[in-house]
Amino acid sequence: MIDNLVRNNIKKLKPYTCARDLYNDGILLDANENSFGSTFQELEELHLNRYPDPHQVDLRNAVSKLLNVDANKLFFGVGSDEIIDLLIRIFCEPKENQVMLLEPTYGMYKVACDINNVETVAPLLNNSFQIDFAEVEKHYSAKVKIIFVCSPNNPTGNLLKKEDILQLCRTYKSIVVVDEAYIDFSEPTASLIDEVKNYRNLVVMRTFSKAWGLAGVRLGFCAANEEIISYLFKVKAPYNINALTGYAVLKSIANEKKKKSAVSAIISERLRVENELKDISAITNVYPSDANYLLIRLPNAKEIQKELAEKGIVIRDRSSQPKLDNCLRITIGTKEENDALLSGLKILLQKKEVK
Ligand SMILES: Cc1ncc(COP(=O)(O)O)c(C=O)c1O
Repeated sequence: MIDNLVRNNIKKLKPYTCARDLYNDGILLDANENSFGSTFQELEELHLNRYPDPHQVDLRNAVSKLLNVDANKLFFGVGSDEIIDLLIRIFCEPKENQVMLLEPTYGMYKVACDINNVETVAPLLNNSFQIDFAEVEKHYSAKVKIIFVCSPNNPTGNLLKKEDILQLCRTYKSIVVVDEAYIDFSEPTASLIDEVKNYRNLVVMRTFSKAWGLAGVRLGFCAANEEIISYLFKVKAPYNINALTGYAVLKSIANEKKKKSAVSAIISERLRVENELKDISAITNVYPSDANYLLIRLPNAKEIQKELAEKGIVIRDRSSQPKLDNCLRITIGTKEENDALLSGLKILLQKKEVK
């Protein structure tokens, strides 16, 4: 079934063969590297004068152990943003095929489609920001090769129902990509990663940019059946994951307790900030969140966002997205940062009331 969804040129593609596919030790005079060593001397043990492992072996093994997912079902990209782009390139014929997005959602799916000249269809989520199957059905056709589902959804913050997502996988002959960038901030059973062995058209995407605190190193990954993974390896740039990124992530995985303590601090701050925001009368909605941010609705959102930025507190105006007029998205920061946000917001809203 997966083969039938893949673009013909990708099926026929002869991938670039890496210098290190066959031999990777000995006297290495095969890849035009600099045998005299790297000019960056602080981390000599990384051998940065050499190209990194194109097969991502150490990362696959480490994440396989961490999440109990078969290493052959894992693929790493330069952030999940690279994986979004590669999936579109594998499955969607420009100007012919379509991608389905469930709006309001993460903006990069549409940008990646626009870059690839692939049309999007965008049924709206329902008023609880869950999948509206009647809407999906209205927008679905055989042209739709990928359905992107973001859970927890950015910017609304809520998990989408697992059973609904699996129903999409069962109902439609398309690839269903579930973006779990924020899953570490949700209840522990929320992920669909264990389902990739049961659903051949399911791709579960994750990132090290959020809970792991590694946005600067750019590493995302996905879990999927081996057929999809082999196409991702076929189309990726030969050495997409650089050695410094690999090093930082392997060290971080060994330091998982730091991640766990940050996640629990963020979750307890989320609860505190949520309660404080609910006490501010000008705020009409504080949406429940399974992520590391909160979505709120209040009059004059655009103006408030701008005035807060002038005070040095930067949050995101999401008002232009469907169903989100007058909505702002606030990332949960440290206690001090959250206090500054809360007091800045209260002062601004009080001033408006006095006027
Ligand atoms: C839902 C979602 N997916 C993916 C990303 C991007 O992740 P990465 O840093 O791995 O490219 C973001 C970043 O904000 C996001 O909100």
